Order: sequence, then structure tokens, then C-alpha cells
Amino acid sequence: MKANVLTGINQPFIWQEVTTPQPLKGEVLIKIQAAALNHRDLWIQKGQYAGLRFPIIVGSDGSGIVTQVGEGVDETWIGKEVIINPGMNWGDEPAFQSRSFKVLGLPDDGTFAEYVKVPVENVDIKPSFLSWDEAAAIPLAGLTGYRALFTKGGCKAGSTVLISGVGGGVALITMQMALAAGAEVYVTSGDDSKIERSKELGAKEGVNYKINGWHKLLQSAVDGFDVIIDSAAGESAKNFIELARPGGRIVFYGGTQGPITTLNPQKLFWKQLSLLGSTIGTNEEFKAMLSLFETHTIHPVVDAVFKMEEAEQAVRKMEKGEQFGKILLRP
Ligand SMILES: NC(=O)c1ccc[n+]([C@@H]2O[C@H](COP(=O)([O-])OP(=O)(O)OC[C@H]3O[C@@H](n4cnc5c(N)ncnc54)[C@H](OP(=O)(O)O)[C@@H]3O)[C@@H](O)[C@H]2O)c1
Repeated sequence: MKANVLTGINQPFIWQEVTTPQPLKGEVLIKIQAAALNHRDLWIQKGQYAGLRFPIIVGSDGSGIVTQVGEGVDETWIGKEVIINPGMNWGDEPAFQSRSFKVLGLPDDGTFAEYVKVPVENVDIKPSFLSWDEAAAIPLAGLTGYRALFTKGGCKAGSTVLISGVGGGVALITMQMALAAGAEVYVTSGDDSKIERSKELGAKEGVNYKINGWHKLLQSAVDGFDVIIDSAAGESAKNFIELARPGGRIVFYGGTQGPITTLNPQKLFWKQLSLLGSTIGTNEEFKAMLSLFETHTIHPVVDAVFKMEEAEQAVRKMEKGEQFGKILLRP
């Protein structure tokens, strides 16, 4: 088969011939129909991710057709149209992942290839209302957003939710899920046009986080947030303490802008706030997330589709951060 191979830190993705993986006991081989990019793929290329190994085929998200099964897997899987859950070996504790937890696309070879092999428990039938591209756009972002928003954030109908950096893959899909659940959603973005597009999708209002005092603009529009979902952190995250309602939950699933060094503990405890961390999610959350998409026929936003062999151009586009929605690779 052919695959996008990364040979080292800061090296480009090279589309080249590699050995087609063979499904082992309990695994299935999937012919990829679409794969989606995540910021993780860029962190790995830049060498800013734990547990690097090269050469590696990255890619956590994919949809495709099962073409072969390993020992012990029911042959009726062959020909099934599936969506891949990229989180493996979560373990028995819903509150946190086991030490052997891993995400598809490092350490194991991922979806930026013609074929990928994964354990059969990591595949679910692709919801039929989703295109191949849409199905591939969901898994990592959808699962991360689902756990952050519902399991950790306790979002429900009527909740007032703030989602920062809405142009991000996780952020946008989280906004779609929050809207489907009946929440009132506000957003921030560094790009006014992304705020406008979010409003077209149902967000109530948004502010540009590049404006000095951006949080004051939100404060004048909303009487506090029940749930705040963020992946930037950094200095400006101290404003979330001001923006949260008493009893509010602030959930971080990333820290792109670095540490938060100036939190006001008085406001934190007086307002009875919860600061929470969240990473990916369990198999049960993956199924619940898919069921939410099916119940509300949510179509994830796809920004651009590249040919599979154009992974390098696609990742450079993601690096510029101009996208609104997921960037896809299609064989
Ligand atoms: N813990 C987990 O399980 C998990 C899972 C997935 C991702 N992540 C992490 O979450 C982060 C986002 O991932 P992604 O795949 O969604 O990335 P992405 O699609 O590349 O999106 C990154 C987004 O960050 C936003 N951003 C940049 N500077 C910001 C700031 N100062 N304040 C608020 N937002 C800002 C931008 O939004 P605008 O374009 O709107 O300005 C940008 O689109 C990454 O660090 C990733 O590693 C963690």
C-alpha cells in the first residue's frame, strides 16, 4: 500500500510504498475512504509530542471499509462501512485512562494511508447519514469535545456555554454538540469571519480574543457561563474565572498558549468554581457521542478536502490556522 510517512522531526510527509499491515488477533484491516487532520499530527511532525518514534504514519481519524479480519474476529465485519475510535486501551476506570492508553497514529501507525489496522472494539458502524468525509471528521475531535462538554462540563439543555477558539477542530464540533443539546452557545475566535460563521450555525454571539479586554465584551453580553471549554489556556485564561457563573465548570483539553500563572483563588473558591482537565474519552462516551450525532443528524463542518498524497500541504494549511472545520484527506 501507499502511505504518508514521517521520517523524523520537521521532515515533510512523504507519500511512499510501505508494507500493508496484517490484522492480528482481534484486529480488522480497514481500507481508508477518508482521514482527518488533528493538531496532534502537527505536534508530532514538529517533535512536540510525547513518545515519538520514526518512521511513523500518523492520523487518528478515519472512516473506511473492513477488508480483512484477524483471528477471532467475526467474518461478517468484512465489507462493513465503519468509523474508527482512535482511543485504545482506556481501561476500567471511567475517570481516567489506563497507563497503556494510546491514540491511533502514534505509537501505532494511523490513518494517513491506504489501509490501517485497529482492534475490532475500536470500530463502529458508520452512521448512514454521514458521508465518508463527515464520518472521518468526527472521532478524535467529537470524542474529546463530548467528554469535555458533557461528562466534565455537565452541559445540558439551557446551559450557557462558552467555547474558545471556535475555529479549532475540537472547538467547532463541540459547539455543534452543545447547540444540539439545547445549550446557549457563545464563542471566541481570533478571526471575526469565524465568529460570523458560528453565528450562522446557531451561536448566540462571539468576540475576538485578540481584542484587549475581550472578556469584558462578553461580560456585558452574558450574565456568566455555566460551562467554559478551552484548549488555549495561557495568560488570558484567568478571565474565565470572571466569566464563569457561581458553580460554573471550566474545562481544559489543551494548553496551546502555555501555563496560567495568574489565577485569582479568591474568586475561584467564592464562586464555587471547578477547574477540570479532560482528555479524549471512553468507548462508552464514543458510542454516546455517535448517538448524539445520529439523534440530531449533526453534520460536522468540513473545511477542505485534500488528496491523501497531499498530507504535507494539508498540514501546512492547518498550521496557518485559517480553517473553519476539519481538514480531510481522501484517497
Ligand atoms: N486532551 C485531548 O484529548 C485533546 C484532544 C484533541 C486536541 N487536543 C489539543 O487541543 C488543541 C486544539 O486541537 P485541535 O485539533 O482542535 O486544533 P486546531 O484545529 O488546529 O485548532 C486550534 C485552534 O486554537 C485556537 N486558538 C489559537 N490561539 C488561541 C487563543 N489565544 N485563545 C483561544 N483559542 C485560540 C484557534 O481558534 P480560532 O481559529 O478560532 O482563532 C485555532 O483554530 C491542541 O493543543 C490539541 O493538541 C487535546
